[in-house]
Amino acid sequence: MCNTIQETTPVTPLDPSDARCNAVKYAILAPSPHNTQPWRVAFQGDERIILSIDHSRLIPGCDPLGRQAFISVGAFLENLDLAAKNSGLRADIDLFPAGWPDSRLVQDTPVARVDLVEDPHIEPDPLFLQIPLRHTSRRRFEKRKVPLDAAGEITAAYDFSLVPLGFSHDDDLIHAIADLAADAMEIELADPERFRETLQYFRFTDAEAHTAQDGFGHAQSGYGPVMRFFIGRFILPRSKAASSPESFSRMAKRSTREQAASAGGIGWLSTKGDHRVDQVRTGRAFQRVHLKACALGLALHPMSQLLADYPGMAGLRSVLRDLLGVPDTQAVQMLFRMGYARPVLPTPRRRPGDFFFP
Ligand SMILES: Cc1cc2nc3c(=O)[nH]c(=O)nc-3n(C[C@H](O)[C@H](O)[C@H](O)COP(=O)(O)O)c2cc1C
Repeated sequence: MCNTIQETTPVTPLDPSDARCNAVKYAILAPSPHNTQPWRVAFQGDERIILSIDHSRLIPGCDPLGRQAFISVGAFLENLDLAAKNSGLRADIDLFPAGWPDSRLVQDTPVARVDLVEDPHIEPDPLFLQIPLRHTSRRRFEKRKVPLDAAGEITAAYDFSLVPLGFSHDDDLIHAIADLAADAMEIELADPERFRETLQYFRFTDAEAHTAQDGFGHAQSGYGPVMRFFIGRFILPRSKAASSPESFSRMAKRSTREQAASAGGIGWLSTKGDHRVDQVRTGRAFQRVHLKACALGLALHPMSQLLADYPGMAGLRSVLRDLLGVPDTQAVQMLFRMGYARPVLPTPRRRPGDFFFP
């Protein structure tokens, strides 16, 4: 049996009659840090998909352990599973088929081996319908609390035993997190490598956004075309941001505080361990959380700087842990704000064929 990516044979990956192509088309709508889309896909035989990490799309400055990349692989798998179910297929997902990986390295071995198998007992999951509607919103949210009932409904939408959801809509907590998140953004952008990665995936103008097939820009903060034009051309063009990192950092810090302070609630996902399997599970859980939030009319926005794994963030990370009341034995994997907001434009994706590697 083949286990490694080198042994796989991609078979007509874009054949529309192949159910795997349809599933991959939905899977790539998953979220990923900076919209890097770090997924690498190969087909084996008639029903097998091998999923690995695309090393060229890692952001080692911002995500030095690749933890966020593995979370995004989990989100990809959740979409894949939902799309398979919707076509009457069962996705048999075998994580790390070549053996348990080292959590400090991003290895070349597959993250998952997935067989799509016909199964008359498979039922479609209504969350499938939310896949194309789910977008990360960086808008300021309306002044309206997310009710505890909504958090309860979200918890019921996934298997929370291994990846519990924490939630609060307490104003003091939201404001404390807003201040922390703003400081975390400043720390993130103070390092030249992390700053470079952020700029690499940030789209300053609509022209950049239209030609790129990854990253995100002002449209995802809800700015209209006129405002986007002025910001990208006059207020903070790429050239100014590149030559004056402090200007970009100041603007990012201010909007981070405003965004977080406008939250109608804060959610977080944690796991007992912090192994690759925990991160992939978190990604699956997070995707279901976001899809369910979307079904409930809630906007959602991850705020990951505070959870970053580089040494400079350790102090703030531990303050956050205390604020959330998460014990030392648990790893906070995702932190996000939720609330009410008008929709934002979707982020782009590369073409499905771009994810296939021989
Ligand atoms: C693990 C992970 C961490 C993320 N962290 C952040 C973050 O700190 N700030 C942010 O604005 N978006 C964050 N995002 C959202 C991505 O930027 C977003 O998924 C990507 O731009 C694609 O857009 P979409 O979610 O609308 O499809 C994160 C997503 C993932 C999967």
